[in-house]
Amino acid sequence: MVAMSLIDFSQQNEKAIYDLFKSSLILKRNFNNYSLSQVQVKGIAYLLFFEPSTRTRFSFESACARSGVHPIVLSSATGTSLEKGETMEDTVFNLDALRPLFFVIRCPDELDLLSLAKEIKTPIFNAGWGWRGHPTQALLDALTLYERWETLRGKKLLFVGDIKHSRVVSSHLDLAKICGYKIGYSAPHYFLPVETEGIEVFSNVNEGLKWADAVCALRVQKERHFDENVRKGFDVDLYKMDFGINQKSLTNLKSDGVILHPGPINYGIEIEKEILKDPRSVILKLVENGMFIRQAIVQNFLNGKT
Ligand code: CP
Repeated sequence: MVAMSLIDFSQQNEKAIYDLFKSSLILKRNFNNYSLSQVQVKGIAYLLFFEPSTRTRFSFESACARSGVHPIVLSSATGTSLEKGETMEDTVFNLDALRPLFFVIRCPDELDLLSLAKEIKTPIFNAGWGWRGHPTQALLDALTLYERWETLRGKKLLFVGDIKHSRVVSSHLDLAKICGYKIGYSAPHYFLPVETEGIEVFSNVNEGLKWADAVCALRVQKERHFDENVRKGFDVDLYKMDFGINQKSLTNLKSDGVILHPGPINYGIEIEKEILKDPRSVILKLVENGMFIRQAIVQNFLNGKT
């Protein structure tokens, strides 16, 4: 069932993505001209969050409810047969038998979503898969930039921080190829991935900020620091001094630049709390747009366009 799934961007093209942005912005404009009581229920979706989530989970739940899809959510192992040792894979196989319209799945790397999608009848929407990808996060980031710029072609997006463990960056690398924007990295060596071909890499964050049209600070993902070099290399005070996003470093970002963070945020480490109030910050707008892009994805699916 891979064709109807959204696990990565391999089935997407620029026109389809821009059409999705336009549909999302229409949904946003019509947010108040809408009543849940008028929505006809079309079916049930299973939202399986094998890892924690706030933004993605609530926005997918809202998107489903607003589209006439009743969401049933697994938000922890408690009370499920995962507690008895049933695997995530077996959980999906069994729930597939109950014939939901689609799955929304957040999971660690060990669950192979691409293989799973070939074996089950139900399409899968990737809601964050280990370090491999978080396509709806990349889409909502890109939607927010498109809303500002009306195009992404030729624009420069700088990622700062824990790039090596970021599924958001993984998805942006693919989306940037489709939509023609450039990616830059600024991070200490232990947070840089091995592969940086085609990427602008800045050892000095201020140089990166001067280059960028938008900067996305990334959460330091301690839960994925299995590599001893990363654990030994990371020193929070040095990290903040060299790569922290704060009022001082942001004097290097252009006055009409854009500040993003996918959340959740470690305030005082990768970014200072006061930056939420910087007029260039779209951090909460990203959350808002997350619901509209996910609603557009669900509605495209219901209309047979995914
Ligand atoms: N950005 C993001 O995926 O946030 P959650 O983990 O809260 O869903």
